[in-house]
Amino acid sequence: MLLKDKTVIVTGGNSGIGAAIALAAGREGANVVIDYVVHPEATEELDDEITRAGSEAIGVDADVSKVADLRRLIEVAVAQYGRIDVLVNSAGIETRTSLLDTSEQDYDTVMAVNLKSAFFASQLAARQFIAQGGGGVIINISSVHEDWPMPGNTPYCVSKGGMRMLTRNAAVELGAHGIRMLNVAPGAVDTPINTSTTTDPDKLKALNASIPLGRVAKPEEVAETVVFLASDKAAYVTATTVVVDGGIMQGSVGL
Ligand code: BGC
Repeated sequence: MLLKDKTVIVTGGNSGIGAAIALAAGREGANVVIDYVVHPEATEELDDEITRAGSEAIGVDADVSKVADLRRLIEVAVAQYGRIDVLVNSAGIETRTSLLDTSEQDYDTVMAVNLKSAFFASQLAARQFIAQGGGGVIINISSVHEDWPMPGNTPYCVSKGGMRMLTRNAAVELGAHGIRMLNVAPGAVDTPINTSTTTDPDKLKALNASIPLGRVAKPEEVAETVVFLASDKAAYVTATTVVVDGGIMQGSVGL
């Protein structure tokens, strides 16, 4: 098992890509700390599924846009399992608004949930990793849009662009402590963030046609890559972005 006895925290861990990562990590033997803000019943179901797979999980109701909540999330994980080994920053939202129509509130919320959260969760996890004697892995769930424009989704792209530089800068700073930090950049994935596209047959057809592999990803397909990168099998991978996009960035048209 790739993550046997490691403690893995997943933010946004009861939905979408985060939930798939939580389950995949549990199946690989990890103790999983599932951060969530809504739908406690989804957390409970996931917790049960991880337990049935033979691992342990706990849910923590923590709003990642608040540093005090992030601090509590890490404290609860350490109190429960004695240490932490992997942080996956998966919480994310998008407003699908352009520069011209984005409100201050849209901007602040997207930046807080997507970028501020990853910044401070990484800071707090790294401090804990160092206090434990070094080592540890931080994986940010970014997007192909950390680098690739998505007109009509500007605050989201700005937040993911920030995440790209956060990972490069912080990974360089943290390398001396044996801490790896990297981004995983999914393309289009069948999760709640994409419902407005995946439930509209015309939009879905156009999206599928723009992807060289011809279809959107299942969340599990992103999760498998994350589990590998979190494991010692990827011991020399850091300070970069691993793209899991079915080739969408090289395709002819975006969304
Ligand atoms: C966005 C989706 C978009 C996909 C591919 C994701 O990061 O959240 O809205 O469909 O990228 O462009």
